[in-house]
Amino acid sequence: MNAASDPRRSVGERLFVVGAGIMGSGIAAQVALAGYFVTLEDVSAELAERGKANALRALDRQVHKGLLDLVSREEAAGRIDVAIGFRRASIASIVLEAAPEKLEIKQELFRQIEAAAAPDALFATNTSSLPITQIGQVLRDPGRLVGVHFFNPVLQMPLVELIPGARTRPDIVERADRFAKKLGKTVVHSKDSPGFVTTRGLAVLINEAAWMLQEGVATRDDIDTAYRLGFHHPMGPFELADLVGIDTAVAILDVLWDGFRDPKYRVCPLLRQMVAAGRLGRKSAEGFYPYPARGGGS
Ligand SMILES: NC(=O)c1ccc[n+]([C@@H]2O[C@H](COP(=O)([O-])OP(=O)(O)OC[C@H]3O[C@@H](n4cnc5c(N)ncnc54)[C@H](O)[C@@H]3O)[C@@H](O)[C@H]2O)c1
Repeated sequence: MNAASDPRRSVGERLFVVGAGIMGSGIAAQVALAGYFVTLEDVSAELAERGKANALRALDRQVHKGLLDLVSREEAAGRIDVAIGFRRASIASIVLEAAPEKLEIKQELFRQIEAAAAPDALFATNTSSLPITQIGQVLRDPGRLVGVHFFNPVLQMPLVELIPGARTRPDIVERADRFAKKLGKTVVHSKDSPGFVTTRGLAVLINEAAWMLQEGVATRDDIDTAYRLGFHHPMGPFELADLVGIDTAVAILDVLWDGFRDPKYRVCPLLRQMVAAGRLGRKSAEGFYPYPARGGGS
């Protein structure tokens, strides 16, 4: 095969994102803006296409805010495609997983990803709380996996938290650091401790607010107002919980409980009840607040 027909010639420029939900779609928009080609993968064509539509909407919001011109928007949009299955992972330099926050799901995905990806591709997981070392233990080469934790909404949040697992190679951490900075993000490094730096505090805040609401200490609106005006938080804990997803918040608290066995991480029953009732936040049109115009999360 000569260089011109080698499909891996473009390896340096392509990402493969597994999971086209809130985060996968935001990450696709972000990397496309930075010049990467990106494939958004999900379990069905409908979900992958919905993820792409949300990525395009995120780009449109940048245009409406005057932060992006139409030509750049069109160019970025043209760099996003969709897939079902991992065939196109073989031409990616970075495979980034943004599937649901469940260890078994992520481990099974990385088994399949490793079988399909190029041998020198970097593997990233966007987990917000699961141990990177444990996710990576299913890999033949766990040294290539690193936690690259983006924040929601991806285009607006300037932070990326980088988390090497116990076996992650230093060159992989350096590549991930360069990648995040190329996207214009500020990088903080955390050890592979449950919930890392950011999620540990976030989960406790949301859980404590839910306990206060359940105990009748204050109303939903007063609790949110108290944190916005009292601490200069841009949104209250319930607004934040709806943005993150109540199911994701509960999954994170379960990870913290499993990791530390400390009662301070016991999940407020109100949160579990909301998940059982399908009140997951913005993505399900109802959480602590109603969201009448459904679809797309951030
Ligand atoms: N929501 C947030 O605010 C936030 C912030 C930072 C990190 N995270 C993390 O990012 C990850 C994704 O979270 P999200 O909020 O985007 O979830 P989400 O539920 O919006 O999206 C997950 C997507 O993964 C897809 N999926 C499920 N199984 C799959 C499979 N086997 N193969 C491919 N796709 C599959 C689902 O269909 C869905 O589209 C989680 O690990 C979460 O903890 C979330």
